[in-house]
Amino acid sequence: MNAMRGAPGPAHVLVTGAAGFVGRALVARLLQAHAGGTWSLARLTTLDLTTDLQARQGAAAGLLHAIEGSIADAAVVQRAFAEPVDVVLHLASVPGGTAEQQYALGRDVNLHGTLHLLEACAAQAQRGGPVPRFVFASTVGVFGAPLPPVVDDDTRPCPGMTYGAHKLMAEAAVADFTRRGGCDGLSLRLAGVLARPPAPTGQRSAFLSELLRAPAAGRDVVCPMSPQATTWASSTPNVVDNLLHAATVPAAALPRHRALTLPALHFSMAELVDALVARHGRAARAHVHFAPEPEIEALFGQQPPLHTPAARAAGFTDDGDLATLLRRATEADQADGDAP
Ligand SMILES: NC(=O)c1ccc[n+]([C@@H]2O[C@H](COP(=O)([O-])OP(=O)(O)OC[C@H]3O[C@@H](n4cnc5c(N)ncnc54)[C@H](O)[C@@H]3O)[C@@H](O)[C@H]2O)c1
Repeated sequence: MNAMRGAPGPAHVLVTGAAGFVGRALVARLLQAHAGGTWSLARLTTLDLTTDLQARQGAAAGLLHAIEGSIADAAVVQRAFAEPVDVVLHLASVPGGTAEQQYALGRDVNLHGTLHLLEACAAQAQRGGPVPRFVFASTVGVFGAPLPPVVDDDTRPCPGMTYGAHKLMAEAAVADFTRRGGCDGLSLRLAGVLARPPAPTGQRSAFLSELLRAPAAGRDVVCPMSPQATTWASSTPNVVDNLLHAATVPAAALPRHRALTLPALHFSMAELVDALVARHGRAARAHVHFAPEPEIEALFGQQPPLHTPAARAAGFTDDGDLATLLRRATEADQADGDAP
């Protein structure tokens, strides 16, 4: 893998939302890959409201430049482009539950913040700088409930929440800035990523991560969905693999609208409990208590089979099977918890 995308010399990569759940894993992997010689980084700029410890460590090594500030502020975004940027991995976002409750915040960050980044890319290109590859972390939330019997590359998005609506608008902007020559963009629609650390967040799907974690630790957990409820998910390492692949995948492999639904595993809560028993022993089953909440089940538990041939043809992958997803999600969770 190489971050250079055909240009000579190592790349300057900008990661927004770098202190977040996926961002931390992505930055750790980028630094690891750079040290191992599989990625050639000239500079790694992170942009988030806060600076993560890991980022501070990298900064000490001279490679990593951490900017604290909001993408809703165009002047802050411009600081991130002080040196020409080759690849933007745009993860910064207000989560779905928060964006639904706080409309203006969701709009300023999820929509306007993304536009600020795209405009900074276009200004750089206009100055004669590189046309950055722009990887946008979108969401399967663009589809909205009720979903059709199968979701595939032809399913028409119809968001059920403002979060998904702003992500869909931002997808259109990514495609339009690509058409105008301001960036070389790609929106990846992510399914649920496991396992999120146990902190109070605005993610309404956080219970799925606790379902993975609690039985392993001998704790009881309440599943707000029925055993038959089906969902889509990926492990953090799988999502990081796909984000890094997106940084280098040739434009010729991408559809004109530049949006891909990522492959993800489709499984029921009963299948998840079976996989937990296979991994942690029979006692795991007794720790899971089902107390379905119709609203949660409608949002996350009625996901039908998912077919993503366009993303697969472009080289994106899922975890393969539930046992692998559980193993990767658990290992990544421990690595995140052990980080300084
Ligand atoms: N985790 C999932 O299950 C999932 C599923 C679908 C899509 N996604 C998308 O993937 C991306 C990463 O998800 P995550 O789980 O790591 O999210 P997260 O909430 O853990 O991290 C988001 C980061 O963005 C930062 N941020 C928020 N507002 C900001 C602003 N105004 N300026 C700069 N930074 C700001 C936060 O401080 C946080 O560190 C997000 O765009 C999310 O919408 C995630």
